[in-house]
This record gives sequence, structure tokens and C-alpha cells, in this order.
Amino acid sequence: MAKKHAEGYLSAKESRRISKENRRITSKLEKQRKRKNVPESEYLTTMKNPENAVEFDNLHTYFFTDAGTVKSVDGVSFEVPIGKTVGVVGESGCGKSVTSLSLMQLIQRPQGQIVEGEIRLNLGDKAYDIAKIPMEKMQSLRGNYVSMIFQEPMTSLNPVFRIGDQVDEVIELHNSSMSKEEVRQRTIEMLEVVGIANSKGVSEMYPHELSGGMRQRVMIAMALACSPKIIIADEPTTALDVTIQAQILDLLRQLKDKINSSIMLITHDLGVIAEMADYVVVMYAGRVVEKGTVQEIFENPAHPYTIGLMASKPVVGKQVDKLYSIPGKVPNPINMPNYCYFKDRCEMNCAQCDGAYPQEISLSDTHKVSCYRYYDGGKISDEEKKNILEGHVKAPTGEKEGK
Ligand SMILES: Nc1ncnc2c1ncn2[C@@H]1O[C@H](COP(=O)(O)OP(=O)(O)O)[C@@H](O)[C@H]1O
Ligand SMILES: [Mg+2]
Repeated sequence: MAKKHAEGYLSAKESRRISKENRRITSKLEKQRKRKNVPESEYLTTMKNPENAVEFDNLHTYFFTDAGTVKSVDGVSFEVPIGKTVGVVGESGCGKSVTSLSLMQLIQRPQGQIVEGEIRLNLGDKAYDIAKIPMEKMQSLRGNYVSMIFQEPMTSLNPVFRIGDQVDEVIELHNSSMSKEEVRQRTIEMLEVVGIANSKGVSEMYPHELSGGMRQRVMIAMALACSPKIIIADEPTTALDVTIQAQILDLLRQLKDKINSSIMLITHDLGVIAEMADYVVVMYAGRVVEKGTVQEIFENPAHPYTIGLMASKPVVGKQVDKLYSIPGKVPNPINMPNYCYFKDRCEMNCAQCDGAYPQEISLSDTHKVSCYRYYDGGKISDEEKKNILEGHVKAPTGEKEGK
């Protein structure tokens, strides 16, 4: 009867048990979140550093699925300073989008829930903990304080409404005192700000009549219409070609300085990070493995994962047979190991790596890494980095020093 099942296989009984348990957990959390007239004191908090716009502190966001609990974000901590750009990098599926959606409170509910940790949002005179804030309150913060630019503008714009009407709606929602004419005036202004020529004409068009770059500009206009303090850009240029990508990034940078906001820039493209970011957060399998200033991360990558990412990007002028690729794949987020998540793919591991998940080690005030190799003042030497990477990438002799 009780046959040994293949790994990952769930019996109907087991699956029923999981979904019942999930319902119990999520309905409790949902009830909490949907309450009305919650006193502000419940979600009021203080920033650790008032110079930060957002502080993620030990954030855990899980999805309670029928196959088990997906620990998409599993203890993430980092800050976004006011007026700065923080780049979040990592392979697909490592929890970048879920982290940013947690800040917007837009994770797919009821399965998706923030189960632990704080997200402190600086409102100037006070700070709110987004992890505890009730739904009705969050609506007034979205757009005014935090705003998001999505990856694929065609799926985010409604195909059956004219551009102008869609931008109007955003402005109206946040400025109920404006008259219809004033709202339209502001829409036209915003379209001009994001560099759309013939803004009046474009406001009468439908999304399918615009090019990809123009649609992304419209999305940016909508996101910035209410001058948010934080702009989350989730892979904003992935769907665009390279020249348009450069223009959009330039535009984002200019607008950010104009309204003095911060950007949380999510991308898997290290080139974009190098160009845009002041700080870099490297995520792997739902956790931050390394963070630091952009110089620290690019000049002295510490975590074997970051070193691998750097080695897997092409460098102009350096001729290689084959780009480095990190062996193996991201572990299944339902069954995470109880040791370092990267160990099974790591070519620089040591005896200690069998132990519990490594603590964060400070290499400088801003540069932190979670890796056993840095315990007790240890480090991975440049020689070792080179040996391992060149074991895979055979650079033709004579071309090695090219950069
Ligand atoms: N609605 C969902 N239900 C279940 N799992 C999800 C859901 N959304 C995301 N995940 C899982 O969470 C993990 C992180 O996803 P995501 O944050 O989208 O990754 P990325 O870093 O590519 O943006 C992935 O393993 C993904 O499968
Ligand atoms: Mg994503």
C-alpha cells in the first residue's frame, strides 16, 4: 500500500492536508490585513536611519501552495537611501520581484503572505511598517509614496482605453480636488516630461498604436505622476532594444533627480547596474548573499555567486571561447537545504560550508557578504578566483589582460 514515491510526489491525502493547513494560516493572516479602522499605532515604526527611504528588515514572504510552502523571500535585509539608486540583481526566480511586490503590497493573495519581518517606509515626518499596514491604508501610499514600473508595458496598459484616459485615471485617483481640465493638463505635461513629442496626439491613441519604448515612457509617466518617494523599476528595459533601453534609463535617472526620489532597480543585467546604481544587492534563492556600493561589488566581488555572475557577463575587447556559466541550478524553494543555499553549486566551498546558513560578515561599513570563506578574516584570493573561472573560460593566450 504505502509505496515509496518518487521525490517531490505528493499523495492526494498529503496534498489535501497541506491545502487545509494553508487555508488555516492564510485566512488568519487575511483577516488581520482586511480589518478596518486599525489604529495607526499598530503599524507606526521608526527608521533605523532617517536618511533611508525604505528599510527591508528580515523580510519573509511565502507562498502557501498545494505543493508546499514556497519561501520566495527568506530573510532579506537591505536599505534604500533617499535620493540613491539601489540595484537588485540575481538569476531569475531568486525573489527580486516578490521583494518589490511586498513593498507595494501587491503579492498574489491569499497564497502570498508576508509572514515575518519589517518593511519600514519613510514618510518624512513618520514611518510605517508595510508588513503590518492594513489594505485600506496601503491604497493611499501607492502612487504617492511608492510606485512601480513593470517589465512589460503592453500587459500593464489596458488595450481598450486611450493613453490619455489611463494617465488621467492615475492622476485623478490621487488628486480628487482637480477638475477634469486640470487633470488632462497634467497628463499632457507628464507625457511631455517623459519625452513624448506630440503629447496631445499620443493621449488620443490606444496602446497598440505606440512603439515599445513609447509605451514604457507612458508607464513611467503614470508611475511618476504623483512624484513618489520610491520608484520600483522591475526589469524596466528587458523588453526593449538596446538603444531605447539607454534612453529609458537616462530618462529615469533625470526624473529621479528632478523629484529627488530613490530608485529600486531590479534587473539581471549587470551592465544596467554598473551604469545606474549607487548600491548593489545580490540576491540568491530568496536571500541577500552580498551587498555593497557599486564600486565594492564590481571591483571586489566577494561571494562566489557574485564572482560567477561577473564572470558570466561578456566584456568588450576580451576574447573568450565560451562565457563562464555557474554550474547547476537554483534549489527548489519548497525544499531549501539547511546549509548555505549556494553550496551545491559553489566551486570555492570549504569544510565549514556543511554547517548552518552562514552569517553576514562585514568587509567594510557598506560591504557585507554571507559566506564561510570570510569567517575569521579569511578571503578568496584573486588568484583562486582566476583559477576557477579560467578553468572554464579558456581565454586565448595573449588576450587575458584585455578589458
Ligand atoms: N504567485 C506565486 N505563487 C507561487 N510561487 C510564486 C508566485 N510568485 C512567485 N513565486 C515563486 O517565488 C520565487 C521568486 O520569484 P520572483 O520574485 O518572481 O523571481 P525573480 O527574481 O525572477 O523576480 C520563484 O521560485 C517563484 O516560482
Ligand atoms: Mg522578476
